[in-house]
Amino acid sequence: MTAIETTAPAPVKEAAWHTETVLWVKHWTDRLFSFAITRPASFRFRSGEFVMIGLPPREELGEKKPILRAYSIGSPHFAEELEFFSIKVPDGPLTSRLQQIKEGDQVLLGKKPTGTLVLDAVRPGKRLFLFGTGTGLAPWLSVARDPDAYARFEQVIVAHGVREVQELAYRDLFTAEIHDDPLVGDEAKAQLVYYPTVTREPFERQGRFTDLIESGKLFADLGLEQVKFDPEHDRAMLCGSMAMIKDTAALLEAHGLTEGSNAEPGDFVIERAFVG
Ligand code: A2P
Repeated sequence: MTAIETTAPAPVKEAAWHTETVLWVKHWTDRLFSFAITRPASFRFRSGEFVMIGLPPREELGEKKPILRAYSIGSPHFAEELEFFSIKVPDGPLTSRLQQIKEGDQVLLGKKPTGTLVLDAVRPGKRLFLFGTGTGLAPWLSVARDPDAYARFEQVIVAHGVREVQELAYRDLFTAEIHDDPLVGDEAKAQLVYYPTVTREPFERQGRFTDLIESGKLFADLGLEQVKFDPEHDRAMLCGSMAMIKDTAALLEAHGLTEGSNAEPGDFVIERAFVG
């Protein structure tokens, strides 16, 4: 028998990330900015999901691996570009560099978007409360621009809690621009409520979500007769710090709502916002 020698081609190692181009950058404050990147044709996600975002290693500095962090995608699932809302941490390994990106720069995009802040993880209901603190607003930029949110719920409430008024990024989007959106403009006019609240300086509404829920002010502000969440009709998604999620989820549970997941949809779902 003669052995036949073959030279198998070396396996082609598929890159773990897409390399995408920055389309625009917008700085809101010295702590917050947004940016958008190109979307690869093969990249699919559900509105509300997050993905890893990063920067290539600086080989001239001896860096070997990229730095990546999880970011909620702020665009709805059908958008041509991918938008992100980020904090700037002065000595943060990623954000100290990411905040300096400019149009035309390259950003790494993970290939596996995932997450629980998706419409499929909440049971049908009447009202969808989207509670976000700080950059925890990001997934609602996606969900509230998705026509599916308005098809499934009579009312969609985007609640944004921040320390200072200037941190109410996307206020113009939710108070005006979204009403002219070709896809969801009419639905947003009729069904979307923007509910901003500020905790550390005077504003038209003040206080943490937790206090607004406990006092019943949230419901009164929305013109509802109820003083608690209603497990039959109310659904919620939470995104923010661990403390905010824990405290708000405890209130939702005390009002009879149960947490859901992709595997088992429930009355509310949670996810920690990107923090460092
Ligand atoms: P506060 O100013 O009273 O701490 P942060 O930037 O720290 O994530 O805070 C964003 C917003 O979330 C702030 O308005 C903050 O209020 C609020 N917040 C912080 N912790 C909680 C919590 N446990 N429950 C509800 N809101 C919270």
